[in-house]
Amino acid sequence: MTRSNPVWDAPTRLIHWAFPVGVGLMWWSGETGRMQIHSYVAYVLITLVVTRLTWGFVGSYHSRFSNFVVGPRKIARYVTQGDDVVGHNPLGALSTVALLLVLLAQGVSGLFSVDDVTFDGPLAYAFDGVLIDAASEWHETNWGILQGLVVLHLSAIAWYQWRKNRPMIQTMWRGSFADRVGKEAPVHFTRAVFIAVITAVVLSALLWWAPEAPSYY
Ligand code: HEM
Ligand code: HEM
Repeated sequence: MTRSNPVWDAPTRLIHWAFPVGVGLMWWSGETGRMQIHSYVAYVLITLVVTRLTWGFVGSYHSRFSNFVVGPRKIARYVTQGDDVVGHNPLGALSTVALLLVLLAQGVSGLFSVDDVTFDGPLAYAFDGVLIDAASEWHETNWGILQGLVVLHLSAIAWYQWRKNRPMIQTMWRGSFADRVGKEAPVHFTRAVFIAVITAVVLSALLWWAPEAPSYY
């Protein structure tokens, strides 16, 4: 018996399901001021987002941006004519790129943010603290954008899952489902582990380098 190729390989699925858990924790910890938890979960999330973005260039077929990001003409054709696409459809592609970039912006802005009371993001005093105000403001505004994108994401998934009867959630959970199988054999997951480790090392080095708050603050 031959095993079918997954649409979503293991790293893509693992990273994906870490997002609702991680973002849920970020929301709770951000709103209740549990900043130690907020920062440690954020470092994991930043590592995962950077790994997924890199996987978009060197990962398995259906996870590579070049195989699902298309131009406006193809998006328009999809919107007017529709199509049952295995992998991200042209609109799902837009949502994927937007979610990943907005999540990254949330993480990066957090590194430079302060909460005005007890917690300073680890890079708040890099560049002489000039980014603190803009980053803190952006962290708040961008959170609204991320929430909007997640609501849109869940509404779209619900539409395809229950109105169009497409097994989106099962495919994202199991990798493949019924006739939803991948085009090519997946890239070995150790490549994703390697990317995640390099990202974590670079992030740790950045946090280690980060300057302390000067005494006049
Ligand atoms: C904060 C929460 C969430 C975020 C940030 C998020 C983000 C994403 C991203 C970036 C992708 C693209 C996957 C990739 O190629 O790497 C995706 C796909 C997907 N997500 Fe989520 N997600 C969230 C919650 C959920 C939840 C709760 C569900 C299920 C109920 C879900 C179901 C799916 C499915 C089925 C896909 C595949 C879509 C397709 O086939 O085009 N997501 N999500
Ligand atoms: C990775 C994704 C992240 C998410 C989803 C996230 C989410 C949030 C949320 C929901 C809040 C509350 C916002 C509000 O009350 O309007 C918040 C506040 C905050 N976050 Fe994050 N955050 C992330 C990363 C980070 C990082 C990396 C740091 C720094 C280590 C950080 C530092 C802060 C600070 C200092 C505040 C308080 C801002 C204030 O009180 O004005 N965040 N974050």
